[in-house]
Amino acid sequence: MANDEEITTTTSAEAHDRSRSHAWYKPGEQLKLSPYTLEIFENYSQIPTGQIAAHIVKIREKAWGIYPYPCIGSFRFLDFAITESPTFNTALAKLKSGGKYLDLGCCFAQDLRALAYAGIPSENLYGADLQSGFIDLSYELFKDGETLKSTFFKGDIFDLATFTPIRGDTSDPALFEKIKGEIDIISARSFLHLFSPGQEFKAACQIVEILKNEPGSIIMGRQVGSFTPGVESISLGKREVFRHNAETWTEFWTRVGEKTGTRWNVQASLLELAPDVKKSVEAAELANIQTRGWLEFVITRL
Ligand SMILES: C[S@@+](CC[C@H](N)C(=O)[O-])C[C@H]1O[C@@H](n2cnc3c(N)ncnc32)[C@H](O)[C@@H]1O
Repeated sequence: MANDEEITTTTSAEAHDRSRSHAWYKPGEQLKLSPYTLEIFENYSQIPTGQIAAHIVKIREKAWGIYPYPCIGSFRFLDFAITESPTFNTALAKLKSGGKYLDLGCCFAQDLRALAYAGIPSENLYGADLQSGFIDLSYELFKDGETLKSTFFKGDIFDLATFTPIRGDTSDPALFEKIKGEIDIISARSFLHLFSPGQEFKAACQIVEILKNEPGSIIMGRQVGSFTPGVESISLGKREVFRHNAETWTEFWTRVGEKTGTRWNVQASLLELAPDVKKSVEAAELANIQTRGWLEFVITRL
């Protein structure tokens, strides 16, 4: 089963506002590239500096047509958030010694590219998404179709049997079944927050099934949270989600642990949203979002 947004995507795509006047759609002229983003596109993707912005804007247009996620409209896919995670160095060490990484709900899989750029063997990096179109566009964006040795799966987190390799090593349709339970690090960035409270819980239990059953395995990411946690109505009242703070997120993982027979150390902190992000989200959802923040987390298996 897909999440509420995705059900809508596949059944009535036109119902979604893909207009360029949408509150969280930033016009291309407003694109600002951080020094690290420029470095990735210059050195990893080998795109001449003067052509980078136009290239990104062109690919962003195609992705917006697939689904108008805020991270696409607002160019947030250019934040290589994994490099800012408190566990980045631990993750690098694990992956340098042969660990496997899965970028779940990867869309452009920018964090996976940051790891490949940092020298991690890309055959140990995997991506998965419900939408194969985003995976194809990720190769167009990073121009690494000839070099990246990662494998990407199309699949729905609510049914792991749907995970099928579509790029990279596609020789074995049952590959996911084989690597399930062998993944050392799962990135679930801007992912679990998509779902209703019940679905979020189910998706988290599925993540536990994919992760290696070993102390030290990590689930990491960043998602929308709240300084006043609780159920919120979003998308103009169409959906209900639970916005967490560090305490409710820790309780959530205690419940996931009870359900799955596992134990977790939860490190989480709530970061302030940048003022321009607050303004655009408020306009898009007509909601009071003054208490919203980014919940940055590292959840380590005990
Ligand atoms: C908000 S985007 C975040 C993308 C990326 N992780 C990032 O932080 O930039 C959420 C992604 O999750 C994918 N997704 C949504 N529902 C899914 C599901 N049921 N199973 C797998 N992926 C899903 C979407 O297609 C989309 O690419």
